[in-house]
Amino acid sequence: MKIALGSDHAGYDLKEEVALHLKNSGCEIKDHGVFSRESADYPDTAETVSQAVQAGEVDFGILICGTGIGMSIAANKRKGIRAALCAEPYSARCAREHNNANILTLGSRVTGPGLAINIIDVFMATSFEGGRHLRRIDKITELENKR
Ligand code: RB5
Repeated sequence: MKIALGSDHAGYDLKEEVALHLKNSGCEIKDHGVFSRESADYPDTAETVSQAVQAGEVDFGILICGTGIGMSIAANKRKGIRAALCAEPYSARCAREHNNANILTLGSRVTGPGLAINIIDVFMATSFEGGRHLRRIDKITELENKR
């Protein structure tokens, strides 16, 4: 599986732990930075990871900031992006089954590394259910096209 990974300064340490876990799990990582704890603006990384997902270069994106909120707001501005902020595995499963989320966002100041990795594993292992959920996703796409 190919994953585009990104963070701001607040998410940097967790991003490094996540990258190691994903590599050990056999994933191919496209690391969009940041590469230090120096202050950085989360919309910049949200943009490049979202572009990689939109272009179909990766299967999923993972974005990490302090709360996960800024990353989810920024990523969801792009057409076709369904970024879900998850702080526990149940939401991660539903984000895939019901919402066909293509980006997972995490808050490093909210969610510890062990739980974050558990959330990621559930997110990546779960498929979209389709059916009635597809009708709802189609309505989200219609909303995007009204902009
Ligand atoms: C950075 O201090 C913080 O605002 C950012 O990481 C994130 O939590 C924004 O939503």
